Amino acid sequence: MKSFSALALAACTFALSSWTAPAAAQFAKPADAVKYRQAALTLIASHFGRMQPVVKGQAPYDAEAIKNNVKLLSTLSELPWAAFGPGTEGGDARPEVWSDASGFAQKRDAFKENIAKLQTAADSGDLDKVRAAFGNVGASCKSCHDSYRAKK
Ligand code: HEC
Repeated sequence: MKSFSALALAACTFALSSWTAPAAAQFAKPADAVKYRQAALTLIASHFGRMQPVVKGQAPYDAEAIKNNVKLLSTLSELPWAAFGPGTEGGDARPEVWSDASGFAQKRDAFKENIAKLQTAADSGDLDKVRAAFGNVGASCKSCHDSYRAKK
């Protein structure tokens, strides 16, 4: 039984990875990828920004609400990156996203790490920890934008 479920799991994993492998194929045309990543980043900005009044002490800290919002933010933070695949240059993304792909990946990973730390902080229910982690996430948005997003 045990080996059967291991096999079933392996089969599922294989099915999943072969399904998600051609990331670019998720989009019929490059403009669709641009629209998708901009939509995802808009949602990220909304779920990030709405916590600012709490962090600034202008709204009461509802630990449960913040925790749930950060959980959503964490899921959203997975979304934009697959839409920066090869051949999807455009929007307000600078050409360096593709010419310096490893630098971009570093910014993305640092951002995801900071989101994970924000989640730990939100789970702790300690506003001081949330405040510090929130600041670090904000800094990683800015750090990526400074190098990889066109200035308007
Ligand atoms: C790893 C790099 C990176 C990180 C991290 C990042 N962004 Fe961005 N962001 C971009 C790029 C590149 C664009 C331009 C995308 C385009 O127009 O194709 C963008 C665009 C946006 C947009 C405009 C979307 C639109 O409708 O055109 C918003 C809003 C935004 N980011 C907010 C944020 C916020 C808030 C964070 C942090 C919580 C964040 N971003 C983190 C790279 C990043």
